[in-house]
Amino acid sequence: MAMKIPLFNQSQPRESKLNQESHIPEHIAIIMDGNGRWAGKRGMPRFAGHKEGVSTIVKIVKAAIKYKVKVLTLYAFSTENWKRPKPEIDFILRLPKEFLDIYLPELISNNVRINVIGDMEKLPSYSREAVQYAVDRTRDNGGLQLNFALNYGSRHELLNAMKKILTDINDDKLTWDELDEQQVSRYLYTAGLPEPDLLIRTGGEKRLSNFLLWQLAYTEFWFTDVLWPDFSETEFLDALEEYRQRKRRFGGI
Ligand code: FPP
Repeated sequence: MAMKIPLFNQSQPRESKLNQESHIPEHIAIIMDGNGRWAGKRGMPRFAGHKEGVSTIVKIVKAAIKYKVKVLTLYAFSTENWKRPKPEIDFILRLPKEFLDIYLPELISNNVRINVIGDMEKLPSYSREAVQYAVDRTRDNGGLQLNFALNYGSRHELLNAMKKILTDINDDKLTWDELDEQQVSRYLYTAGLPEPDLLIRTGGEKRLSNFLLWQLAYTEFWFTDVLWPDFSETEFLDALEEYRQRKRRFGGI
């Protein structure tokens, strides 16, 4: 029987302001960048950076549970990442299975629901099967929803949505009059989820890299130079603290 992750019950002074749930973003999306540079700075192969990146995922999932974030979406592999050398692609795509082999029982005991956004069909069978098992096994869990963006590209997602919408209009399942922004959202991988309140990108770059282009329309952005393997609960709290102070106007005044 898996144990609950003990970290969750501890509370430190710095966290007190953030304990009010109204200040916590419901949905946090993260572009986990900087693994390769982290490894390069240590004279290690890029793989080592990705491996260390998984340890950061564990820490941040724990923090997200602790602060009662409802949805955490992690950009793990983009449709553009296929351009990388095959050994690096193979290594990254083995990580979800390695992660789930170790942590799925703990995630289940913490009521985490796992989901994938992206085109799973093109993933190697070992990743697809491990992830699909975790999705099926956690389907009824009501705690943190942990989305792995795997073979995800926002333009691909939007193009697919457009094709499905046109097909449904053609098949009389949808009319022009019914088609509004909410309907479009229902054709995306993120259907049914709140849009991200906060986007975090590590690794110093300030771009979206084809991530959630529709869903991030009113999201608050938080960038850090810290490389993903060095990112920790401390920086996560910095982001939450800055988010708490932002005034979200959604185009109003
Ligand atoms: C970007 O850093 C990182 C990636 C493309 C891979 C991210 C994947 C993980 C952290 C592991 C995924 C594991 C699970 C469990 C889903 P980069 O390689 O582009 O870094 P660089 O900009 O320094 O080269």
